[in-house]
Amino acid sequence: MRKPIIAGNWKMYKTIGEAVTLVEAMRASLDEIEGVESVVCPPFVALSAVAAALQSSRVKVGAQNMHWAEQGAYTGEIAPAMLVGLCQYVILGHSERRAYFGETDEGVNRKAKAALAHGLSPIICVGETEAQYDAGETDSVVRHQVTAALGGLTANQVCSLVIAYEPVWAIGTGKAATGEAANRVIRDIVRATIAELYDEETAQAVRIQYGGSTNPANIAEFMQQPDIDGALVGGASLQAEGFVQMVRITARLRS
Ligand code: 13P
Repeated sequence: MRKPIIAGNWKMYKTIGEAVTLVEAMRASLDEIEGVESVVCPPFVALSAVAAALQSSRVKVGAQNMHWAEQGAYTGEIAPAMLVGLCQYVILGHSERRAYFGETDEGVNRKAKAALAHGLSPIICVGETEAQYDAGETDSVVRHQVTAALGGLTANQVCSLVIAYEPVWAIGTGKAATGEAANRVIRDIVRATIAELYDEETAQAVRIQYGGSTNPANIAEFMQQPDIDGALVGGASLQAEGFVQMVRITARLRS
């Protein structure tokens, strides 16, 4: 049984004070919901304050990125060990990082290995751009991204990470994929690739989210799909009530 996971990617929104206000507005309600893991991923500078605000809460914390090196002369970067104790999850390879900050599949793989070595669970993002979608390249792009991201990982490690299928054309556009289309890519490409690389048991164990313009009104469409194990939520995760509602709907449908 894969436990559903709804994660809020706050991106470059919320100062430290605003982040604490937001998490305090969600915390009590999220703590009452059973059967779904909820995660908030604030900007780096707010991680510490958010983690403190969530002490003894069941809500988990995630970072939005991380460097792969242990430490070193990498101005502006954050090492894995710096996140340990602050968060349990780390988003890796988000399409915005790939598009604007030159992240490569190889870098995502190095980061995944480093995160796992430090006991952090990666949420690895994959997904095709609009041009790739239009060219009918979705399956090959996603297959390639999954294969590259997981290179050299053991089956056990793969079972402990999360993959987020986020079609780039659906991010922040209000143009979500349909539940059925997202489920097809997740089942026939992401899970099937993991089954080929590892085995069916591993493919069935790994949790795979959908991301891209999810909100309280459409989350049920995704969570009714058998292979979708949650959502990586952008814009809608910045509203306390809406995010709580998404977790509640998921709990109602899946637990
Ligand atoms: P939106 O939910 O705002 O489309 O963002 C999705 C996303 O990029 C989450 O990582």
